[in-house]
Amino acid sequence: MALYALGDLHLSFQADKSMDVFGSVWKRHEQKIEKYVNRTVKPEDTLVLTGDHSWGRKLSECREDLAFIERLPGRKILLRGNHDMFWDAKKTERLNEEYAGKLFFLQNNFAIYEDYALVGTKGYTFEGPFYLDRMGRVTGWDEERARQARKLVNREMNRLRESFEQARKDGFRKYVLFLHYPPTNILEETSPFTEIAEEYGVSAVVYSHCHGEQRFHDSIRGVFHGIPYLLVSGDFLNFHPAQVLP
Ligand SMILES: [Fe+2]
Repeated sequence: MALYALGDLHLSFQADKSMDVFGSVWKRHEQKIEKYVNRTVKPEDTLVLTGDHSWGRKLSECREDLAFIERLPGRKILLRGNHDMFWDAKKTERLNEEYAGKLFFLQNNFAIYEDYALVGTKGYTFEGPFYLDRMGRVTGWDEERARQARKLVNREMNRLRESFEQARKDGFRKYVLFLHYPPTNILEETSPFTEIAEEYGVSAVVYSHCHGEQRFHDSIRGVFHGIPYLLVSGDFLNFHPAQVLP
């Protein structure tokens, strides 16, 4: 039994949206997902998909993308990404009822993997605009956007704490934290997300959202304050699922 993660599938079986313009790594990427996930993930394994599943704008435009995910091996757990318009956070229970036994939607709840609680939420990071000098150093940023970002971070932190607390009340003391957004932006060393990861002593933080080589170093990768941080964006991994736990 093993725990895997992969993010940002950006499927578009029903939407007219090709990812090919983003580079050769995206060419027929759904075929790569199918091939590599089937090669690695066994029926008894768990696969967490860390958001941005579908380009569909509403559930009826995402059915084929979700059916594709359903057909992948293992137990599938889905996190909300910024592009997952089909998934209203307040209607997660409805999705879980509809897809019971097929897909699990992780939001204001948690999932169990052996003696670990899998907790998570979309997260948020301020991505600018930043103002740079001639040397490319950041000299300032859009204050209004930064204010808005702080609000979104607070809302996501409340959702995340709810996920942790439900797990803790049920007796869990080991956690894996999943986020869609990176835990920090390019200027931050720490954030409320790294702080809560340390507060609960999580075994790993897993995130995606960063696409393209110039974004792969935006946030923490490797061990930071004793916690491993894993970037699992599909294009970063060339769509091979990453193993999080044995
Ligand atoms: Fe994203």
